[in-house]
Amino acid sequence: MTNAPVQHSLRNKHILLGLTGSIAAYKGAELCRLLTGAGAEVRVVMTEGAQEFITPLTLQSLSGHRVHHDLLDAEAEAAMGHIELARWADLILVAPASANFLARLAQGEASDLLTAVCLARRCPLAVAPAMNQAMWSNAATQANLQRLLATAVRVFGPASGEQACGDLGLGRLLEPAELLALASAEFTSGALADLRVVVTAGPTREAIDPVRYLSNHSSGKMGYAIAEAASEAGAEVTLVSGPTALAPPDRCHVVPVQSAADMLQACQALQADVFIAVAAVADYRVAAPAEHKLKKTDAALTLTLERTPDILATLAASRPKPFCVGFAAETQDIETYAQQKLLAKQLDMIVANEAVTTFGQDDATVAVFWPGGGTTLPRQSKQQLARALVTLIADRLAARR
Ligand code: C5P
Repeated sequence: MTNAPVQHSLRNKHILLGLTGSIAAYKGAELCRLLTGAGAEVRVVMTEGAQEFITPLTLQSLSGHRVHHDLLDAEAEAAMGHIELARWADLILVAPASANFLARLAQGEASDLLTAVCLARRCPLAVAPAMNQAMWSNAATQANLQRLLATAVRVFGPASGEQACGDLGLGRLLEPAELLALASAEFTSGALADLRVVVTAGPTREAIDPVRYLSNHSSGKMGYAIAEAASEAGAEVTLVSGPTALAPPDRCHVVPVQSAADMLQACQALQADVFIAVAAVADYRVAAPAEHKLKKTDAALTLTLERTPDILATLAASRPKPFCVGFAAETQDIETYAQQKLLAKQLDMIVANEAVTTFGQDDATVAVFWPGGGTTLPRQSKQQLARALVTLIADRLAARR
């Protein structure tokens, strides 16, 4: 087991850490510290049993947030209820997971906050069992385990060794560093391994004169999230970005550009296997930008605009043709326009969203279409959407091979 270089994939990830009643709860506290140290944002849910072994205050101090423990507390539910917690999480990790908790989880119970959040989840769930070796090997626990594995719950451990009760055998909670490495590996799929992915992001700026420009409100968040998700999926990623206020994602090569013409040139210079055009490229530019700052006069000013090159359509017409993904921000008839764009630009996939509610926001709902198919991804953070889109792209590529 190594906890070596995979931890960067936990940066900015939302980890919901569940603690249940076990003497190993103190290791859950250490795990919380390691997760926040790796850059994850951690929210802790403790069962009543867990609070017998370790105080919520300890976990509050380590996570930087109030610990959640009560399903029926109106105040806590109003602040961040069980459904919101479940939606917020990129990964739920229950460590330690007691025999009792596994049994309740396997039954689909929602009798306390932790089981309710697990039942309402949309993200992966991992459990790290911790119990006496006889309880672990009991047929009832093993049957519960099989049931959980059949519903794609990940099971981390347990380890074998000396137990708090003096027994020797399977049932020890894995060490916090091992759990950290396993949690981190959940965000590194390898689905795009060995592929060169080029992502365009942000707005472009089209010069009017040396100090003024035409542009738009794109924040670049979606493109940056896709670049990060593609890199976590093992791709070699180049992010061709217009001006944004965002920090470049780890491990992506960033090519900063200003205008649509610069962006096209940068993209053409790269050999992409997958080209994902997320940039909100300006549709028009000033036909003849002024060499010097324009002086204002009392007269109205008329600028003659000309079309910018369509970067995505140009790349989709290049040979060898990369797998091309476009974005369509529409304000009405989303599906019709998206399908038209898929055809007109000869794309392999198009991601359509509602322009007004998406620009600059942290989350979005999108509809995705490809020749002969499509799906809708429900409202979620742009990071969660980015990972779902990368999975869809990898699936389409696999279907094509
Ligand atoms: O035609 P429309 O601008 O709606 O198409 C949107 C898609 O095309 C986006 O993926 C965008 O990044 C890309 N695009 C481009 N170059 C342009 C205009 C749009 O790459 N000049």
